[in-house]
Amino acid sequence: MAEATFNFPRGFQWGTATAAHQVEGNNANNNWWAWEQAAGRILHGHTAGLACDWWGGRWREDFDRAAESGQTTHRLSVEWSRIQPTPDRWDEDALDHYRQMVRGLHERGLTPLVTLHHFTDPLWLYERGGWANDVAEQFAAFTEKVVTALKEYVNQWVTLNEPNVYATLGYLMGTFPPGDQNMLKTFQVMTNLVRGHAAAYHAIHRIQPEAQVGIAHQYRGIEPYRRWLPLDSAIAHFQSRMFNDFFPAAAQTGVLRFPGWRKRIRQAKNTQDFLGLNYYTQDFVAFHPLRVSEAFGKRFFDPQAALSDTGFIANQPQGFFAALQWANGFGLPIIVTENGIEDAADHLRPRYIVEHIRQLWRAVNFNWPVKAYYHWTLVDNFEWDRGWTQRYGLWELDLETQARRKRPSADLYAEICQANALSSQMVARYAPQIFADMFPNE
Ligand code: BGC
Repeated sequence: MAEATFNFPRGFQWGTATAAHQVEGNNANNNWWAWEQAAGRILHGHTAGLACDWWGGRWREDFDRAAESGQTTHRLSVEWSRIQPTPDRWDEDALDHYRQMVRGLHERGLTPLVTLHHFTDPLWLYERGGWANDVAEQFAAFTEKVVTALKEYVNQWVTLNEPNVYATLGYLMGTFPPGDQNMLKTFQVMTNLVRGHAAAYHAIHRIQPEAQVGIAHQYRGIEPYRRWLPLDSAIAHFQSRMFNDFFPAAAQTGVLRFPGWRKRIRQAKNTQDFLGLNYYTQDFVAFHPLRVSEAFGKRFFDPQAALSDTGFIANQPQGFFAALQWANGFGLPIIVTENGIEDAADHLRPRYIVEHIRQLWRAVNFNWPVKAYYHWTLVDNFEWDRGWTQRYGLWELDLETQARRKRPSADLYAEICQANALSSQMVARYAPQIFADMFPNE
């Protein structure tokens, strides 16, 4: 049997990523909580509820799990509505709670990466129109408060999680609050997110000059279905520019560019110290004369690709490589801030992990400056509009009892973290069905 080991450089960081609303529980003062209470918005009427009960203290046992399995870092987010429950009040107890959490990570040998905004907004901000307005000043004030409180333990920050997803799902597709379907508003929100990011970036650096600051950007591969057809290629290129390029390009050049929309935001120029990359899957796009609102492109998964439980994600590891190549174009250190798959029975996840880590290794071997990888996620958590129907955890969560059960993928990932490598033995043990393809004998 062929043997090989894909080694990662010394100091490469391995972790998992989480977000406040998805794990904390009883996060009742934000727009998502309100949205969940109304009928018809979340699949099966699910709500975040107690989630993984991190606010009740179960972060301790989950951080133990992460540390025991060889992880060296953890990405978590802080909840704005807890820290600033009303416009004129800061909750020092909430800040202290987060201080304990990030100290708890250090005590377990894990370096924290903290996200300031991961999809949720305080109700007071939301009721005034949220990011449809220029709220950069408010976001910077919140950022200052958090950075001042946590800087003893944290020097890596993500200002915004997936601003492209936040704007598109909330203002164009209408599946996230506030449920709008308005192109103009989507541009406005994107513009205000760029302003907010820039203000937070500068605020962080004023308080902590050595900080590393970026966004967690969702890159979704969009490939022409028929490469030979110029229409398919043109649509793929257009959609990819809109979804993938707009925000990080604005944070690099200080200029926002959509077709028919150009705005200079000087303060946004060079406001990324690293490129945070969230990658899950990739689509094909084909010209379709009736898909007007989707720029005449019909999107679908490669019919050959294995699909996740609910068909939400296709296993497309080569798309991850393409995403890393795209990220490398920015000339910044790269942090893979999310990557994972929903798979309750853990049938596909081991293979997904193996194939994606192998692409990561290829990227590292091209000397692309990838510094860290965060798997999404540690324990099953609340999946937004899809409620609890999608299970992304290395550990399974029993919602009734709060019990955690380890999936085989947790052991696989632990072996990778501990060895700082992916070996053929691991593949043989956890994903034997792809062994012969990955390590051919001749
Ligand atoms: C989000 C996470 C989410 C994950 C899986 C990402 O777009 O940042 O919050 O849980 O996708 O759906």
